[in-house]
Amino acid sequence: MKKLSYVLIALLGSISFYAQADVATAEQAAKNYALFAKSTLSADDGKAFYTSKQMVNGKNIACNSCHTDNPTNKGKHSESGKEIQPMSPAVNPKRFAVLNESEKGFAKHCKDLYGKDCSAKDKGNFIAYLLTFK
Ligand code: HEC
Repeated sequence: MKKLSYVLIALLGSISFYAQADVATAEQAAKNYALFAKSTLSADDGKAFYTSKQMVNGKNIACNSCHTDNPTNKGKHSESGKEIQPMSPAVNPKRFAVLNESEKGFAKHCKDLYGKDCSAKDKGNFIAYLLTFK
């Protein structure tokens, strides 16, 4: 997955420098994941992924355990209780604006939940779902 990150960073690097970070940047990030997945994206599949509970150390957790059911709201870390800024690019323009930050987030949380990084398709669907929130 490292290689994918580098190519995506190369693709998006120039964009995030010049364009203002906003929903369009997140849309572009989703499109790039779709390109790599060689697949169209599905917000419905993204929702299923977002809410799919995994057993981790005896606890059932999903992305929404920390990022909440409504990603326009602030999240809360399920373990530490620490506040997390909203995941929705509509209310938090920083989301998916800097690709290596997003890749780090995906890598970390996918590993926590699935023991490995998520696929480009899962990541694209995840962003597509987040973009349905205005
Ligand atoms: C145990 C709590 C927790 C869970 C579960 C969790 N996250 Fe996160 N997530 C965080 C925290 C904390 C951050 C970093 C703080 C921030 O970015 O505001 C974060 C950030 C991210 C980012 C970085 C976003 C960016 O700014 O580009 C992505 C992507 C992400 N998470 C995806 C996921 C996905 C996908 C899942 C489900 C497979 C998930 N997270 C589940 C706590 C969690």
